[in-house]
Amino acid sequence: AGYQIGYFVGSLASGSINRTLSKALIRVAPEELEFTEIPIGALPLYSSDFDGDYPPPGRELKRAIEASDGILFVSPEYNRSIPGALKNAIDWGSRPWGTNSFARKPTGIVGASPGGIGTAVMQSSMRSVLSFLDAPQLNSPEAYVRFDPAVFGDDGKVADADTEAFLRHYMEEYAAFVARVLAANAPGHI
Ligand code: FNR
Repeated sequence: AGYQIGYFVGSLASGSINRTLSKALIRVAPEELEFTEIPIGALPLYSSDFDGDYPPPGRELKRAIEASDGILFVSPEYNRSIPGALKNAIDWGSRPWGTNSFARKPTGIVGASPGGIGTAVMQSSMRSVLSFLDAPQLNSPEAYVRFDPAVFGDDGKVADADTEAFLRHYMEEYAAFVARVLAANAPGHI
């Protein structure tokens, strides 16, 4: 049986390099992973005023997270942290209190930037947030991607063999991690 992976692209930009990276990751991922994007662009800004009656985009977001076996975040770093649109989506998914949709979901965090920092600081912020939300995270390998437009095609093709092998390795490890967490979450497992 395959695994359903819900993925977030943390950028709303039409020419997002992280969307391109998501295509590359999907292309090299093991065949047992099936990917569905969880869109974040239509969500209002979260407020606890919504908790009594979540609007359809909030309900749909929570449904999509809960329907996923694993979650993958592919995001830029904004001002050394998580882009507001992505943090807003995570806040929606975490509420109303007592219904945190991320609890026990296996997660992976990757990102690309044009510079050498490769979203490392954003990923560090994400780890704090996901830890608080009780979401297990793939700790190793880490994937800090410096985006070279000569290497990444818009269609997800990767022109550099070492880069492609690295991304493939990341996705293989991610798939194995999802399988381990699902086994650990299964009823009867101590
Ligand atoms: C950036 N960028 C950026 N890059 C980085 O490595 N560290 C950072 O802290 C920031 N901060 C930042 C803030 C804001 C508001 C913007 C718009 C951009 C540059 C960023 O990596 C670059 O624009 C990427 O192309 C953004 O990813 P997407 O949207 O193309 O996927």
